[in-house]
Amino acid sequence: MDIFVVEGGKKLNGSITVGGAKNAAVAIIPAAILSGDVCTIENLPTISDVNVISQILVQLGAKVNKLSESVIEIDARNMDCCQVSQELAKNMRASYYMLGALLGRFGRARVPMPGGCYFGVRPIDQHLKGFEALGAKTGLRDGVISLTAEGGLKGACVPLDVVSVGATINIMLAAVRAEGLTVIEHAAKEPHIVDLANFLNSMGADVRGAGTDVIKIRGVKKMHGATYSIIPDQIEAGTYMIAAAATGGDVTINNIIPKHMESISKKLMEMGVEIYEYDESIRVTRSGDLKACNVTTMPHPGFPTDMQPQMAAAMAIARGTSSITEGVWENRFQYVAELKKLGVQAEVQGRVATFVGVDHLKGGHVKATDLRGGAAMVVAALVAEGETAISEIYHIERGYEQLIDKLVGVGACIHRKTVSDDFK
Ligand code: UD1
Repeated sequence: MDIFVVEGGKKLNGSITVGGAKNAAVAIIPAAILSGDVCTIENLPTISDVNVISQILVQLGAKVNKLSESVIEIDARNMDCCQVSQELAKNMRASYYMLGALLGRFGRARVPMPGGCYFGVRPIDQHLKGFEALGAKTGLRDGVISLTAEGGLKGACVPLDVVSVGATINIMLAAVRAEGLTVIEHAAKEPHIVDLANFLNSMGADVRGAGTDVIKIRGVKKMHGATYSIIPDQIEAGTYMIAAAATGGDVTINNIIPKHMESISKKLMEMGVEIYEYDESIRVTRSGDLKACNVTTMPHPGFPTDMQPQMAAAMAIARGTSSITEGVWENRFQYVAELKKLGVQAEVQGRVATFVGVDHLKGGHVKATDLRGGAAMVVAALVAEGETAISEIYHIERGYEQLIDKLVGVGACIHRKTVSDDFK
């Protein structure tokens, strides 16, 4: 297996360019099949989740051509299959977007229960509630979700009981070709929901209100191909902002939308970090000590839950006691036990983790418990004195493109190493 080896204690300096947003890409690629035509998707991140969702499309009969590192062409004209294989679905959470996309295109879908990071129970009741409101019959047998809408889908009002990114996206995908008007109430407002709406509209859909908590979708009979460029990755950018702040460096992060970074910038400024915002970049620098702060994760525009593990790595060396209250997932602190191996002083009680800042972290052996937990290990390892080995890096590579190259480019000492499978 491969691990990352990090020689910490170096201040990051220079510039990093972020790639396209993972969570937008994994929704937009399935959405392309709704066109029944040829779409070109640009600014895709080069990560394993994008490969897996592309392979799912190929398994379903679409043609996917890689035009360059970050551009693919999807030809969805001759698709014939509505059943996603277990093998592919188990690799990622977002495989469940095939439910909405296939239902919208063909009126039926069979998709195995998805994989992805484990943060406690991850129900999909709101997705199913939405499909049923549009007239689909839903079933679950032997771990496979099946949807059928024999008489076609009909627009409906769907008041979500919880603000769910996945359910909002899935209902949008199913509704764009349904007959009549669909209204999603209590919709999620994340940047990638707006990005998906823009992509759907570029293919001829009629989606309004994305980015607010009421999204209205008027079904259209026909859609067409489009060329679309995905937004920059808010979480990748935020991770490098925190890495710059935690190491006391000076890094400019390019290809970002500053508005998407506001909740993260605000917390870093509270911690004593200097942030300079430009049109499409942000400079992060720190000369004084990091100050403790408290973070509560919330749906957008709140502080993103996908940034809390990386924030924990900075809190670990901040002066005073910091806390994170997890407001989205029931169990997202598995990574804390790993951070403690590097000298982090932390305690978890239910949905609250408390960090008492220490002067130094020390290198050690840790594992990535999940994607963003793995990113927290990288940030902590960059700060820690001495060498840190990070295993189970496949979690990290699901969501960070060229992580090593980007970090080495700003002066980090990190490399990949192949070790035996019993490496401890
Ligand atoms: C997406 C992101 C993930 C991020 C999360 C919250 C993708 C591929 N993944 O996950 O990185 O951490 O948003 O920003 O974009 N819930 C229900 N019933 C449902 C669906 C969700 O109760 O049917 C609950 C969940 O248990 C959770 C909360 O709603 O407590 C939010 O989940 P949701 O927004 O759906 O997360 P995902 O879309 O899975």
